[in-house]
Amino acid sequence: MSQLPADQPHAIPPRRLVLVGPPGVGKGTMSALLKERLGLRTLSSGEIFRHEIEMQTDLGRMAKRYIDHGELVPNGVTIEMMSKQLHDPQIKQSGFVLDGFPRTVKQAEALDEVLFELEQGLDKVVSLEVPQEVIVQRLTGRIGCTKCGEIYHSKNKPPKREGVCDRCNSPLFVREDDRPETIRERIRVFWETTAPVIEYYAKTSTLQRVDASHGPENTYAAICS
Ligand code: AP5
Repeated sequence: MSQLPADQPHAIPPRRLVLVGPPGVGKGTMSALLKERLGLRTLSSGEIFRHEIEMQTDLGRMAKRYIDHGELVPNGVTIEMMSKQLHDPQIKQSGFVLDGFPRTVKQAEALDEVLFELEQGLDKVVSLEVPQEVIVQRLTGRIGCTKCGEIYHSKNKPPKREGVCDRCNSPLFVREDDRPETIRERIRVFWETTAPVIEYYAKTSTLQRVDASHGPENTYAAICS
């Protein structure tokens, strides 16, 4: 596992990345930093589903039945949704960070096909890794902004004013699927269905394992190293 101090100069930063890892490992936090600092477009399948749920679309209603129980949304609709996002012509310019997709080997194969069509390759697949007890502690304290998506933690990164986003003053919320029993199921599903995706990428040279237990800045530096 690689670690770099936050102030060490980075090598050429990656432009097309996948972040993979268990729930609460910090994929959303790293995506936000990569977007802010490198201008990459973030494509989070979980965020897109939550938006669809909020808009009460057919896709949102269907996805909610799975998400509320900590299960994965079926491959077919997920692949179609993410493929549409990746076909946006702006993506070629901006680069992208995929957060939470692919999450099954079938999705990883579909992503290969989409990128082949688009004549693009992945610079890096980052497997974020922390001990399980840290995951549970991170998820049980997580709070998010209803508007800008900023992520906080009640102990490690509290907002300046309780219940209000520091960046945009909007109300904060706790995710429906961050209930203890759903967290347990999400972790189980990760080991059963998503861990094989890491093995899939381990066969290529693009996989980088990163110890994500040392705070956001060190994790970010390790990804960009
Ligand atoms: P999704 O939204 O992708 O959830 P997840 O993978 O379970 O990941 P989380 O968003 O919970 O955690 P994270 O790793 O982003 O951590 P975060 O940065 O927030 O998916 C939700 C659901 O949608 C799935 O269960 C599934 O049903 C469905 N779905 C999504 N994609 C799908 C797909 N491809 N196929 C099928 N179904 C799909 O950080 C967590 C906390 O830790 C925060 O409070 C943060 O402040 C803190 N923290 C983060 N990093 C650090 C650090 N380095 N040090 C200290 N604290 C940190």
